[in-house]
Amino acid sequence: MKVDVLLGLQWGDEGKGKIVDYLSQNYDVIARFQGGPNAGHSLEFNGIKHVLHTIPSGIFHEGTVNLIGNGVVIDPILFKAEVDDLIKMGVNPYDNIVISKKAHLIIPSHKALDAASETAKGKTKIGSTLKGIGPTYMDKTGRNGLRVGNISESDFTEKYNALVNKHQNILKQFNTSFDEKSVNIEFMDAIEVLRKFTHIDSEFEVNEYINKNKTILAEGAQGTLLDIDFGTYPFVTSSNTVSAGACIGLGIAPNKIGKVYGIFKAYITRVGSGPFTTELFDETGEKLRAEGHEFGATTGRPRRCGWMDLVLLKYVVMINGITDLIMTKADVLDSFETIKIATAYEKDGTISETMPFDIEGWKPVYKEFKGWNTKTSDLKSYNNFPSEMKDYITFIEKETGVKVSIVSLGPDREQTVLR
Ligand code: GDP
Ligand code: IMO
Ligand code: MG
Repeated sequence: MKVDVLLGLQWGDEGKGKIVDYLSQNYDVIARFQGGPNAGHSLEFNGIKHVLHTIPSGIFHEGTVNLIGNGVVIDPILFKAEVDDLIKMGVNPYDNIVISKKAHLIIPSHKALDAASETAKGKTKIGSTLKGIGPTYMDKTGRNGLRVGNISESDFTEKYNALVNKHQNILKQFNTSFDEKSVNIEFMDAIEVLRKFTHIDSEFEVNEYINKNKTILAEGAQGTLLDIDFGTYPFVTSSNTVSAGACIGLGIAPNKIGKVYGIFKAYITRVGSGPFTTELFDETGEKLRAEGHEFGATTGRPRRCGWMDLVLLKYVVMINGITDLIMTKADVLDSFETIKIATAYEKDGTISETMPFDIEGWKPVYKEFKGWNTKTSDLKSYNNFPSEMKDYITFIEKETGVKVSIVSLGPDREQTVLR
């Protein structure tokens, strides 16, 4: 079977965790291919909410293989914390998580570098989650990194110490240092936990699954607008969050990709810094934040909120080759009299319907829709959707040329309508 991919189409937090958990019933394998603990994927079922950071969102389905691919960066300390949480919930993660030997390790001094870099940037800071993501991918491309496979080698401690020394030298240039002693024991304890998992040559294993007709869903982290190449650079993350990233981050050829699910909120949010054309600074923005509980799953920061942006949505549909759209959090708009969608951008009298090189300084041109003003969170069928909601969805489908095949009307697994 070909590998299906599920990606966020905005600036993250579109509801990927919820939908991957929902779709897991159809897949043998759920595979993360990029990002790391900067992600926070929330799942809710039987009244329990759980947030995953590095572990794939198929973990609550018995018998599902959860694969952490070579493109992911793993913080052993945070990984251990996630494992401990799962064990407390009665899940045995040792049985169904496999980890690529080629995945890179986030070490504590990467986090110190992340913090120092952000502090030095001052007002122009990225608004990073401070999980060490940028410095770890820099060490990967700079060919200095440590990988999961290295922890089984006899000289792992020496390699670790050499990398920490390298980081201490860089930190000196930021006029700061890193207190190794305070974290080394915790880090090495966490390495022992990581060691207990099955480490695999994941590119071979994934291709074997494909050849054996197993069903695989690749679970994206972040969103296309945070992609290192196609996002709102430099206010992005350090990995390729687009569909092509699944090929790199798992070792599969482009002709092995099947469906590409693109997930977006019925409005849009962003955490951290960077331009945001449809951002609302008024009570409508406050209302979106309150109704949508828009606070970060990883950092708890309030998310910036705004209206849906078609200029961006059309761009990301093109970049990713989206075959199926998934709209989440439509219920959040239940009590809005009017709903808006940006259909173009305007700057100094110039109109653009395509994403400009830099979206900073462009103003939205809106189309208004009548709100549906009715509770939708209990609806089970598209036929029962209010006509105003159908109009909203139909407009998005017409403009993007892609069908909205799933609509999510609440955080729970059950609050999902398949068309
Ligand atoms: P992810 O990073 O893409 O997995 O998304 P997050 O988990 O960071 O953020 C999505 C938030 O919205 C979580 O709190 C989810 O429980 C919640 N959520 C997901 N889908 C829906 C939905 O359709 N309606 C509502 N009201 N909440 C949702
Ligand atoms: P999920 O998978 C939302 C944002 C940060 C910051 C920028 C860079 O839950 O959707 P980084 O820590 O990667 O150096 O931060 O990217 N960011 C996210 N925003 N959801 C995420 O993941 C994010 N991961 C990173 O807020 O602006
Ligand atoms: Mg999230």
